[in-house]
Amino acid sequence: MASLPFTPLLLNLLASLIFLLLVSPSHSLKCTSQTFTNKKRYTNCTDLPYLSAYLHWTYDSTKSSLSIAFIAPPAKSNGWIAWAINPTGTGMAGAQSLVAFKQSNGSMTVNTYNISSYSSIVKSKIAFDVPEKSAEYSRGVMKIFATLRLPKHTASVNQVWQVGGAVDRGIPVKHAFEAANLNAKGTLDLVRYLDHNQFTGRIPDAFYKHTFLKEMYIEGNAFRPGVNPIGVHNVLEVSDTEFLF
Ligand SMILES: *[C@@H]1O[C@H](CO)[C@@H](O)[C@H](O)[C@H]1NC(C)=O
Ligand SMILES: *[C@@H]1O[C@H](CO)[C@@H](O)[C@H](O)[C@H]1NC(C)=O
Ligand SMILES: *[C@@H]1O[C@H](CO)[C@@H](O)[C@H](O)[C@H]1NC(C)=O
Repeated sequence: MASLPFTPLLLNLLASLIFLLLVSPSHSLKCTSQTFTNKKRYTNCTDLPYLSAYLHWTYDSTKSSLSIAFIAPPAKSNGWIAWAINPTGTGMAGAQSLVAFKQSNGSMTVNTYNISSYSSIVKSKIAFDVPEKSAEYSRGVMKIFATLRLPKHTASVNQVWQVGGAVDRGIPVKHAFEAANLNAKGTLDLVRYLDHNQFTGRIPDAFYKHTFLKEMYIEGNAFRPGVNPIGVHNVLEVSDTEFLF
C-alpha cells in the first residue's frame, strides 16, 4: 500500500483549483445582494448564466431536502418561468418542473409538470415530493419558492430553467428557441466535495476535466487504475512524491 493521507500542500492546491473552477466572474448583478421580502433565507445562491435568472437554495443533506427560490423575469409580463431537475437527462425532456405564471384573476400559481415532450405540457405529479411551493410576481420578476425531497444521498442534480412569454388557458405556451433558452441548463452541485480532507459523492465535472488532475489521478469520473482510494470515504490519496513527479 503506497497510499498516504492527503498532504497540506495537495489540499491547498486542490482547494485553489476548486475555487477557481467554481467562481464565475461574468455577472454584474449578484445573487448575494438579493434578499426576500417574505424573510426567507437560503445558505447558497447561484447566478445562473442565462435568462437573467438566479437560484437561491438550502440543502439539508441529512434529509436530502432542497429548498429553493428561483428568480427570473418572464419573457413578457403575462408569461411564465420554470425551474426543473432532470433526473434522467440534461435538457427539457424528462425535466421534473415547477412552472409559475399569473392566473386570469391576477394571482400567481406554481404547479408541477413531468415534461416528456413539448407537446405534452400537462400539470402532473413529478418524481419528487414537493411539500411546499408558492410563487410571487413583482416589478417584472417572478419567483418560485419550493421545497423538494430528493433521493437519499443526492450530491448534485441536473437543473434546467426556462422563461416564456404567454400562457393560454392555463397552459404555458412554448418558449423562444434562442441560444439563451437552449443553453439554460447545467449541473447544480449541492454539497462541497473537499470536506475535512475527504471527497464524497460524485467528482464534479469541472474538477475531473481539469487536465492536470485528470492526468494525475482521474479518468472519466473515476480514479485512475493504480491510484488507491482507501477507507470508507473513497478518498483519492497519493503521496507527495507521486503528486509532484
Ligand atoms: C384566483 O384564482 C385561483 C384559481 O381559480 C384561486 O385559487 C385564487 O384564490 C384566486 N385568487 C384571487 C385573489 O381571487
Ligand atoms: C413522467 O413521464 C414519463 C413519460 O411519460 C413516465 O415514464 C414517468 O413515469 C412519469 N413520472 C412520474 C413521476 O409520473
Ligand atoms: C453552501 O453554503 C455553505 C455556507 O456558506 C457552505 O459551507 C457550503 O460549502 C456551500 N455549498 C456549496 C455546494 O457551495
